[in-house]
Amino acid sequence: MTAPFDAVEIICHKRDGGELTDGEVDWVVDAYTRGVVADEQMSALAMAILLKGMTRREISRWTAAMIASGDRMSFAALGRPTADKHSTGGVGDKITLPLAPVVAVFGVAVPQLSGRGLGHTGGTLDKLESIRGWRADLTNDEMRHQLRDVGAVICAAGSALAPADRKLYALRDVTGTVEAIPLIASSIMSKKIAEGTGALVLDVKVGSGAFMKRRADAAELARTMVDLGKDAGVRTVALLTAMDTPLGLTAGNALEVREAVEVLAGGGPRDVVDLTIALAEEMLAAAGRPGADVEAALADGRAMDVWRRMVAAQGGDPDAPLPVARESHVVTAPESGVLERLDAYAVGVAAWRLGAGRARKEDAVQAGAGVELHAKPGEAVTAGAPLLTLHTDTPDRFDRAVGALDGAWSIAPPGTDVDVPPLVLGRVA
Ligand code: URA
Repeated sequence: MTAPFDAVEIICHKRDGGELTDGEVDWVVDAYTRGVVADEQMSALAMAILLKGMTRREISRWTAAMIASGDRMSFAALGRPTADKHSTGGVGDKITLPLAPVVAVFGVAVPQLSGRGLGHTGGTLDKLESIRGWRADLTNDEMRHQLRDVGAVICAAGSALAPADRKLYALRDVTGTVEAIPLIASSIMSKKIAEGTGALVLDVKVGSGAFMKRRADAAELARTMVDLGKDAGVRTVALLTAMDTPLGLTAGNALEVREAVEVLAGGGPRDVVDLTIALAEEMLAAAGRPGADVEAALADGRAMDVWRRMVAAQGGDPDAPLPVARESHVVTAPESGVLERLDAYAVGVAAWRLGAGRARKEDAVQAGAGVELHAKPGEAVTAGAPLLTLHTDTPDRFDRAVGALDGAWSIAPPGTDVDVPPLVLGRVA
């Protein structure tokens, strides 16, 4: 049987700035997943999409075709609203850990399919795997039972969910086409829509430590994803949030779990608490439960109770001591004054070089490795006092981590009024 379309014609159509038809999109995504369209042909098409863009109709169709390449889950039988959050990735972003349990406190189930980290941003599953016994791989039935019994689950996305994206994402990674906004948006949204959540809140990060360095690009990505969610019947809202400085005071797997547990115990750094509350309020409102007192649920132990049950349900011991790296190295402030800037990207790269992240997806991560911050922009620092503590099991990594931090901060004279930008920069609905 002859194919209804020709891959080269589709590539040329997009290369010349045309709008792909529904038939062309459906065919090329399906044929690529089946191995009929070759990697080099899809690479050329991805590059044409990066250079020429896609209309809203094309992106919506592309997303639907990626969803159709695999299974679609449904939580309709749960009898409760569902809400999920997706972050485009940042340094020190441990928000999912307190967020999922605190949303579940209010009767909204959270089916959170997460990933592992690649590059300078950490992955939620890597963080949770630093808890003794915790396992990321659940069957669909285990996920459903946990959602019914505990109300929240954070686990790995199975290979049956949007397999076209899995294949295409790996190809984009090695062909300079990751940055195409239509491809990022359809990649993220195909997985979230296939997951079957009723409401979705997107945390689109902007700044040095984020995928999107410029606000205009982040706003375009947010708009595209919100439209895709709405087209698919998922109530979707996006917050644009700052990622020029790491979130909280830690970057690294077990270090971040420790900080998340502090937030669940009613403490923790203010920015982590504020972002958890802002995202939880959006998730609850999108799921039809507006007006909840999220801060109270963090302060009075209700969110901690769900966290403990969520960890235990996946084999983890919530009371086990978290791993601590064998070696540490303190970086001190060279002068006294007010910390003006502490660059998220540099801290992310340092944590990665210390062993908290991986260079290839097969690599293992060190649970205890990472960076602890002793001050955030706007706070006073003293010459000779600790500014950062670096942690690793392999001390030969310290030099390269310290190198990554070269030029990463600036200190203003004592008493300077440093303007700290707000955490939430915008909202797209
Ligand atoms: N995350 C994804 O899942 N896909 C992308 O394309 C980029 C970030």
